[in-house]
Amino acid sequence: MSEQPVNAAASDAEAGVVVNPYGGGSTSAGGPKRVRTRHFQNAKREGIKITGLTSYDQLTARIFDEAGIDFLLVGDSAGNNVLGYETTLPVTVDDLIPLTRAVAGAVKRAFVVADMPFGSYENGPEQALETAVRFMKETGAHAVKLEGGERSQKQIRRIVAAGIPVMAHIGYTPQSEHGLGGHIIQGRGEGIKQLLADAEAVQEAGAFAVVLEMVPADAARQVTERLEIPTISVGAGPHTDGQLLVWTDWAGLTIGRIPKFVKQYANLAGILSDAAAAWRQDVTNGAYPTEEHSY
Ligand code: KIV
Repeated sequence: MSEQPVNAAASDAEAGVVVNPYGGGSTSAGGPKRVRTRHFQNAKREGIKITGLTSYDQLTARIFDEAGIDFLLVGDSAGNNVLGYETTLPVTVDDLIPLTRAVAGAVKRAFVVADMPFGSYENGPEQALETAVRFMKETGAHAVKLEGGERSQKQIRRIVAAGIPVMAHIGYTPQSEHGLGGHIIQGRGEGIKQLLADAEAVQEAGAFAVVLEMVPADAARQVTERLEIPTISVGAGPHTDGQLLVWTDWAGLTIGRIPKFVKQYANLAGILSDAAAAWRQDVTNGAYPTEEHSY
């Protein structure tokens, strides 16, 4: 596994910093303390759950950062949620660079992970490193994420060797939907062997954390117990070290089917729709604008 200092909380405390075991609290200058890769490691050791949400713009990035979400993933799920594609497959690096820059520029505490889209790393380690370097140089992200276990091991190793933290992503990997035969739960039955092999491969390559997407809760528990790096669930049940969701799903903005593993925490579509209808009505009947909104 990668070399992660696991005693960040202790060293922060010695330095006179107000400490949350992984990245809360404040700096001696009074601002929030930036979440770092070592805080993910500390969280696993201390049994503190890590929280992550996707974000694709500065408005949500600021809100989620201030709410204390530990990491923000500028996911290629921007394809379905922002860019109007049906899947993540058409998403390009050029699509994601401005979104990632907006998110990274808006946060004070959260750790920002840039998702490497389909076609930007499969050619091999050099292509993967080139893409990762672009994200780091052009956006201000703190890490990159890429899909695949054993098949992406060389790419992860190369990026990590260049000093760029990598969040791995195994289980159901949306970029290989067609190779996997559809939107199918991974790691069931005999599939646990491949899941464990993938998990060990990414840890061995130096990933600092691994996303487990759509795997049975018991399989995720086995992976979590086996690994030293934290596991982050997207539809992998409660026994992982952290949880990640696509924000538009839990906020009630998703068009179409919401996955079974999502709990809805807000109905923003309803709120926005009511607000738009009320505004339209006020404009059409002359109730807005009034003198108080005029210069
Ligand atoms: O792009 C994304 O949002 C993701 C998560 C679903 C893991 O990769």
